[in-house]
Amino acid sequence: MDLIDTHVHLEDEAFDPDRVAVIEQAGAVGVKTMINAGSTPTANCAAQLLTKEFPGLFAAAGVHPHEFPDLGVEKLADLPGQLCQEKVVALGEIGLDYHVFPDYPPPHPEAQQAAYRSQLRLARIFELPLIIHVREAQADALRLLREQGPFPNAGVFHCYAGGTEFLAECLELGFYIGVGGPVTYPKADALRAALRQAPADRLLLETDAPYLPPQTRRGKRNEPAAIREVAEAVAALRGMSPDTLAAQTSENARRLFKLNPFDSGCFTYAIKDRLYVNLTNRCSSDCTFCPRRVSRRVQEFDLTLQREPLARELITAIGDPKAFREIVFCGFGEPLLRLPTLLDVARAVKARGGRVRVDTNGQAALIHGRDILPDCEGLVDEWSVSLNTADPEQYQRIVRPAGGASAPQAGREVHAGVITFIQQAVQRGFRVTVTAVELPEIDARALPQRAAQLGAHYRGRVPQRLGEPED
Ligand code: NI
Repeated sequence: MDLIDTHVHLEDEAFDPDRVAVIEQAGAVGVKTMINAGSTPTANCAAQLLTKEFPGLFAAAGVHPHEFPDLGVEKLADLPGQLCQEKVVALGEIGLDYHVFPDYPPPHPEAQQAAYRSQLRLARIFELPLIIHVREAQADALRLLREQGPFPNAGVFHCYAGGTEFLAECLELGFYIGVGGPVTYPKADALRAALRQAPADRLLLETDAPYLPPQTRRGKRNEPAAIREVAEAVAALRGMSPDTLAAQTSENARRLFKLNPFDSGCFTYAIKDRLYVNLTNRCSSDCTFCPRRVSRRVQEFDLTLQREPLARELITAIGDPKAFREIVFCGFGEPLLRLPTLLDVARAVKARGGRVRVDTNGQAALIHGRDILPDCEGLVDEWSVSLNTADPEQYQRIVRPAGGASAPQAGREVHAGVITFIQQAVQRGFRVTVTAVELPEIDARALPQRAAQLGAHYRGRVPQRLGEPED
């Protein structure tokens, strides 16, 4: 049986005594792929480390509504950086939960909504599917989703507990339905009625382990291996075999979270004498002028990625780098979000005598929380840094960096951080070109001079030809 647990909390302390055994037991019953849902800033970090250890484990990063008993958006400060990590395939779990728990502070709907809105904005910028947790707050959850949307990458209503009406609204928004242990509970007739109606291509299976065990394990710790029981229950109520259901729901999970190893998309594309490398569609800015809003095409190439390429795939695709004037990391996304992969590929290109250029928004040090330039020495020949304006206020308005989600002044700080990146790159002896999209509303005249002061070259770009290669 091919099963994917699309929602598990393996970093939870409940698994501290036997985490490896739990993952092995899951593998033994066919659960070889899992998505660890985020919940707190600390849990997001812990999950990130686990994904490095276990090849089949992917992560989502997000902050759960329970974390907002009051207006405390500083809990979102680290999230943009966490969304940039390798193997992060979704934003979540986020949402609204108005349930009153006896031993918990009462829910604060205003605080939860503020955090939900900010995280929805990040999902749009990073182009990640959403994992949404809703309890006793369906109308607000849908209203804010519509208000902040559209979300072409969609998402999942995890641990679906609604009836048929809510189902229709979720489906209309393009969302999937996550089904877990509660489908086996004696009182869950309304849920089972909704699940009988849901289209097969929108169902996902999950455990939410260590929480919400199926009926036979109630009161005990839940584990990803228990997803078999969920699969059997859903298959029975839909009148199909568990194997067929497992295959269908796993295909759905691979489609939504872009996990299919056989999907590729355009990883590299050659135009004239340059070869361009398309590492990611995720980005840490939301530029008003970004051509990706209109189209993902560059000449005949569609740069929409069905999944992010691995280093070895790119090295094979590049072949002999000397056949090109240079290898350029760019695409509709920020290549330095995938720093380890970029460095592996650049190392191979340099070893074979090629030239490497990286087109970047210059926010890498802010994203990764450290100076990344020492890692790049000898591997990158030229940085092309998109600064766009010499004015920090204008930068906040037109580039709209993701860091702005947690603090309104972040745009100015990010602008200063990009200038520092340019200065440090020049000091380390890299060739640096500062670029700007020459929009009528931007006074770009100050920029060539500013670039010269920083010791960098300058290249203005025509807005109509964004996404096209330069001459
Ligand atoms: Ni959960």
